[in-house]
Amino acid sequence: MTERSAIVTGAGRGIGLEIARVLCAQGLAVGVNDLDEAIAEQAAAELRNAGGIALACPGDVTKSSDVTAMVERVEAELGALWLLVSNAGVFHAAPTADFPEEAWDREFAVDAKAAFLCSRAAIRLMIPRRGGRIVIISSIAGQIVRTGQIAYCAAKAAAIHFARCLAVEMAPYDITVNCVCPGMTDSAMLRQSAAARGVELGAYLEMIPAAKLATGGDHAATVAWLASHAAGHVTGQVITVDGGQSLYHPLTRNG
Ligand SMILES: NC(=O)c1ccc[n+]([C@@H]2O[C@H](COP(=O)([O-])OP(=O)(O)OC[C@H]3O[C@@H](n4cnc5c(N)ncnc54)[C@H](O)[C@@H]3O)[C@@H](O)[C@H]2O)c1
Repeated sequence: MTERSAIVTGAGRGIGLEIARVLCAQGLAVGVNDLDEAIAEQAAAELRNAGGIALACPGDVTKSSDVTAMVERVEAELGALWLLVSNAGVFHAAPTADFPEEAWDREFAVDAKAAFLCSRAAIRLMIPRRGGRIVIISSIAGQIVRTGQIAYCAAKAAAIHFARCLAVEMAPYDITVNCVCPGMTDSAMLRQSAAARGVELGAYLEMIPAAKLATGGDHAATVAWLASHAAGHVTGQVITVDGGQSLYHPLTRNG
């Protein structure tokens, strides 16, 4: 087998699916992970129908046995693992005084621990080959304060520092580790959270200097660049893709 492979977690829909589409179009063989088996299968079939090489790898990225099986399967069936994109995420909003402990544990498991489990499995293959790329999808919520999202913000911040620490440890092996921080992006996650708050998506545009939501394609293009030869010396970086949202403050407007 001569293919170079990639794994995108949480790629059954949303940002992950768009990343998988772009990587497939660029010739990587892509393992499409998702907790939801049906959408993982559907996404992989869509990628194959479009001419790509894709394999559905359903599994829970918070379980090390699922992660090990996924990585071994992709390596065996698609070729040497070149790129891991740790994208799966969950979001829960509630005031901190009412925040359920189970939601805190779930968010830390999916939004932080899974980056460790997936990266650990990936680098065990990449270190002996001395080469590879890891991209962690965090959020601007890991960089700025958002109220009512205590676990999401803290877990996404943990993922950012995890990426920085791993980047330094992996640099001698020619493995880069970077973080992409999306701002508000049109996806099922954002639509569900807007519906739960009873707000229209359009209301969010007020908070974004570019006056538009990000798209999965914006993040996919950034990931594709980080995976490319051109970005080979870029490591430990946090790349914010948010149309200026994280820089914006209400006073900005008034000078
Ligand atoms: N949409 C936004 O506005 C936004 C903003 C900043 C960051 N992000 C981050 O981008 C990433 C993708 O978000 P999205 O908007 O596409 O979300 P989404 O909810 O549309 O998709 C996330 C996918 O992850 C999968 N998933 C959840 N838990 C999993 C697990 N344990 N194992 C495997 N798969 C699992 C879900 O089934 C789902 O298909 C997430 O990490 C999210 O936190 C999103």
